[in-house]
Amino acid sequence: MSETTFRRIEHPSPRTDAEREQILAAPGFGQDFTDHMVSIDWTNDEQGGSWHDARVEPYGPIQLSPAAAVLHYAQEIFEGLKAYRHADGSIWTFRPEANAARLNRSAARLALPQLPEELFLESIRELVSADAAWVPGGDGEALYLRPFMYASEAFLGVRSANEVAYKVIASPAGNYFGGELKPVTIWVSRDYARAAAGGTGAAKCGGNYAGSLVAQQEAAAHGANQVLFLDPTHENSVEELGGMNVFFVFADGRLVTPELTGTILEGVTRSSILQLGRDMGLQVEERRITVDEWAAGVASGEITEVFACGTAAVVTPIGRLLDGDEVIESPGGTDVTLKIRETLLGIQTGTADDIHGWMHRL
Ligand code: COI
Repeated sequence: MSETTFRRIEHPSPRTDAEREQILAAPGFGQDFTDHMVSIDWTNDEQGGSWHDARVEPYGPIQLSPAAAVLHYAQEIFEGLKAYRHADGSIWTFRPEANAARLNRSAARLALPQLPEELFLESIRELVSADAAWVPGGDGEALYLRPFMYASEAFLGVRSANEVAYKVIASPAGNYFGGELKPVTIWVSRDYARAAAGGTGAAKCGGNYAGSLVAQQEAAAHGANQVLFLDPTHENSVEELGGMNVFFVFADGRLVTPELTGTILEGVTRSSILQLGRDMGLQVEERRITVDEWAAGVASGEITEVFACGTAAVVTPIGRLLDGDEVIESPGGTDVTLKIRETLLGIQTGTADDIHGWMHRL
């Protein structure tokens, strides 16, 4: 697309102010959507393909052929980022260029087209400007933005699609786990792995999440909020949770998170926390950490806090690890976890200095 011009098709019957305010009074996670969405289409051609027909249109059902490749071969990727309302009413996003870059890394892995960074940023600006009234301003609240790209071509042969759609939808969000922030319980999956070497683990593609759901069901059946995946080929080193990364706080001032081995997702929140940890004088380590080291570290007092992080989860303390019949109570400390959470949210909501230049005004 030579020029980024978005057509705007207004919603003929958007929600009333009262309906919107009722939703914003208690935003859960991912259950209500704003009045509009962004759509851009891509068609392959002899010049390597092009994006066209960028538009902001009413949020609503998508027309898709039953033969669309995404429905059969799961050629799909997505992103997650948030828009925050600051005290002066201005609206900001957090490191959107990092999401644009990750979307393109995922696209490369899933044989989908590259979306120019400027088009990604413009798609976010366009949607948030159309639905600015939907950005909540309460404590820990934001407008969750979900860009996604999928193979829309109707064709049953197995090859990368020649027709692709990119969309962005938005949903007001509070705490991912519902209610007030409280420590969550994690179930260790011993039967299922999330990703294998050479697979799609580092990409943010729907298929990774589809494969995690049976393990997440198992976790829920045991009363846990999230499932923990291990790498059985590396002494059961910790990979990630169903939809978030994991951090360990050590008594001696170390902050440890699993290294990026190609099988876990490179979280934007994860990389931001590594920086905030350095800023706080913690000794940051990205390395393999096994579930046995987790249990032993908690028992010896060496590990004082464990937490989950992600765009949706923000920073959430992990209170308990269930490993079969074994219950590993987390140490219960939350000092460092909450300091990191407050610093991150402070930057995102404009109450702390954005010393790394992470915030982008929309
Ligand atoms: C996010 O944190 O943005 C995620 O994508 C995690 C999950 C909701 C799938």
